Amino acid sequence: MKKTLSIAPMMDWTDRHCRAFLRLVCPSCVLYTEMVTTPAILLGKTPERYLGFSALEQPVILQLGGEDPEAMARAAQVARDYGYTGLNLNCGCPSPRVQKGRFGACLMQTPALVRELMDALASSGLPVSVKHRLGLDRQEDYASLARFVETVSAGACQHFIVHARNAWLKGLNPAANREVPPLRWDWAAQLKQTYPHLRIELNGGLRTVDQVLGQLPGVDGVMLGRAAYHQPLLLAEIELALGRRATLPTPAELLCALEDYAGPWGETLPAPRLTRHLHGLYYGTSGAKAWRRYLGTARPTESAWAFLQRSRHWQEAEMVASSPSRWSHERCR
Ligand SMILES: Cc1cc2nc3c(=O)[nH]c(=O)nc-3n(C[C@H](O)[C@H](O)[C@H](O)COP(=O)(O)O)c2cc1C
Repeated sequence: MKKTLSIAPMMDWTDRHCRAFLRLVCPSCVLYTEMVTTPAILLGKTPERYLGFSALEQPVILQLGGEDPEAMARAAQVARDYGYTGLNLNCGCPSPRVQKGRFGACLMQTPALVRELMDALASSGLPVSVKHRLGLDRQEDYASLARFVETVSAGACQHFIVHARNAWLKGLNPAANREVPPLRWDWAAQLKQTYPHLRIELNGGLRTVDQVLGQLPGVDGVMLGRAAYHQPLLLAEIELALGRRATLPTPAELLCALEDYAGPWGETLPAPRLTRHLHGLYYGTSGAKAWRRYLGTARPTESAWAFLQRSRHWQEAEMVASSPSRWSHERCR
């Protein structure tokens, strides 16, 4: 199977509009939703709000959070009917709210329950995966990680996405839990060597094309989170390096493609709901600052489509006028 490039589930970031944008940047990426809890699916008044997505996002995987296998099985049926490509269980989130619900990272303490939850997800008939940490708190022990993977893989789940650091359940907030516990990419590669029949994907701290190219040979795929969000064109550079595309898209081309996405939404998609995800569009170029300033002009009363139309004039006035040799060949259409 081809090595995969995935975009991580990120609460409040990878909503459907963000995913649609990232799909335009990276046609070969596998997209993950933000985590949706089973009560939000089964008891919520507006499941469409959490579960709705556009066909262009496919392949898109729904990430679920929960600890009750019976509820998980029912939520999985709902997700299947929505048309998701696959389902993923969150065993990596250390937030106090999630710990209180006894799901997320603390599920790593009960691998047999994780196996049950994965079997419940798989009862939908969809492919399933689990996203987990190396371990919990200060216990750094490859043997415990291997036991977790072995116990869970005795059931239906054969796909493991390893956020390659521990989760500290006490004393660190979720943001610090993505920075402070040491990264051990080699443990993901070691899992692949120990269990070659399993699909092992590496996540955590990957920020450059070279890092991705360096790690990919040892695993079945890589998943990028913050770097994908803050520097989306990095994804296209990785695709280019992997021979999956011939040229890089330009910011202007992506804005044109986004107009096609935003058009049918009309007034129902206010500009800020899309523009909040576009801050990294010009990352690393001379236009980055001016673009971020311009994004600040998006008004809640204007549609995303109208804003994107307006941005064509901005590109002419600000970018092309300031540096014709750099930007004029990147005009939209
Ligand atoms: C804002 C934000 C929200 C996140 N929400 C989730 C989530 O809902 N589910 C999950 O499994 N991980 C979540 N994560 C963790 C990421 O999926 C990823 O594992 C982590 O950021 C490490 O990867 P990175 O170094 O490439 O960012 C979140 C991360 C961020 C920055």
